[in-house]
Amino acid sequence: MNVLIIGGGGREHAITWKVSQSKKVKKIFVIPGNPGINLEDKVHSIKIDNPSLEDYIKIAKEQDIELTIVGPEAPLVEGIVDEFNKHDLKIFGPNKLAAQLEGSKDFCKKILNSGKVLTAKHETFSDAISAINYIKKQEIPFVIKADGLAAGKGVFIIDDKDKAYKLINDLFTGQIDGIKTSLIIIEEFLKGEEASFICLVSDDQIIPLASSKDHKKLNNGDSGPNTGGMGAYSPTKLIDGKLTDMVIKEIISPTLNELKKEGIVYQGFLYAGLMIDKNQKPYVLEYNCRLGDPEAQAILMRLSSDIIDIFLKAIDGSLNDLDIKWEDYSACTIVLASDGYPEKFEKGKIIEGLDHEIKGVKIFHSGTKIEDGNFVTSGGRVLSVTALGINLQVAQAKAYERCNQIHWDGKIKRHDIASKEIDNKFIFS
Ligand code: AMP
Ligand code: GLY
Repeated sequence: MNVLIIGGGGREHAITWKVSQSKKVKKIFVIPGNPGINLEDKVHSIKIDNPSLEDYIKIAKEQDIELTIVGPEAPLVEGIVDEFNKHDLKIFGPNKLAAQLEGSKDFCKKILNSGKVLTAKHETFSDAISAINYIKKQEIPFVIKADGLAAGKGVFIIDDKDKAYKLINDLFTGQIDGIKTSLIIIEEFLKGEEASFICLVSDDQIIPLASSKDHKKLNNGDSGPNTGGMGAYSPTKLIDGKLTDMVIKEIISPTLNELKKEGIVYQGFLYAGLMIDKNQKPYVLEYNCRLGDPEAQAILMRLSSDIIDIFLKAIDGSLNDLDIKWEDYSACTIVLASDGYPEKFEKGKIIEGLDHEIKGVKIFHSGTKIEDGNFVTSGGRVLSVTALGINLQVAQAKAYERCNQIHWDGKIKRHDIASKEIDNKFIFS
């Protein structure tokens, strides 16, 4: 079959790499793709500036696409699945109403609260004065979130109220780069260990993927601003069998039931960002309606089943027939980023050291392009270097060894991806 993959980051590179391994697949069309994705077998990248939903449908029809896979949240929230379904085109992912779980933090909180799912206590505000009056009475730290999509940049941990007053005004007046919101959520700060619980959902069928953990903060020791994610690994002992059962029973199922009451049926990946407290109780920080980036790179590195079967069974509603096989190895992903990320950073730096192979290591491209025959940087997160190892320590060492062979002017990375787990430093270890 011919497959269409939408997106062009590290997550989509990992998805494309797995799809290209399927014997069922003849050609893969990718919009927009990236230079790393284009190197994978069977790939044809399609360049269109700001593609519309109609553009995607036109290409799906022209290229005899039998399955479309959507990597990022934006097209899902815009309703790409609904449009493809209208044209009888097979597509994997939640529809527009279901994708609101990620697209609107306010909607997400309403569903969590009506399903009695544990989450941080919150209030939603539509104007700056009420929000500011509210925080005058709150103790620091607390958390301010912009309601809509913000590519991981709409969440602010506040430990200085004066800064919060300015932030609230800036959020409502659209003065923060890339964020436009008419609602803000203010919520209590939760302490604990974060983990990513990602599952496949088809109506009431729920199949958890291999467990994983991201590192959202920019700097070592989980300090500095939030980012899209600076590194991940899989599996994690934070999510053992007992916690998995608890999350399905107390979080995912009640969420799907509440959606059903609103007439919404979920199909696709569902990603619960969890904060696990000192008593090992999981709270939902947020929902995403897609795979995580960089979690996908670590998780898919361990997948040994045919990924196409997974997508097709989810669409057909026969997920319970699936027996997904995972390599009994650990995977560790280190993100190499541009100095200045997640704020301003320079682009166009020549990347050296890419054409060197270490067995069991895969480099996924996120923010690269080709200029004058060279790979150059073109984004904040540039590469996700992913290694498999017999255990997490070996995977981590191999990933860092490969990272150290790659150079550009202004390359940054965290030095402690996976270290907390390796050193047994979780609050409840
Ligand atoms: P979100 O996009 O909602 O997952 O938030 C991004 C990151 O901000 C999370 O991964 C956490 O590290 C942090 N965060 C969000 N909400 C809270 C909270 N209520 N308490 C503590 N940290 C939070
Ligand atoms: N790694 C976090 C995310 O994909 O949202």
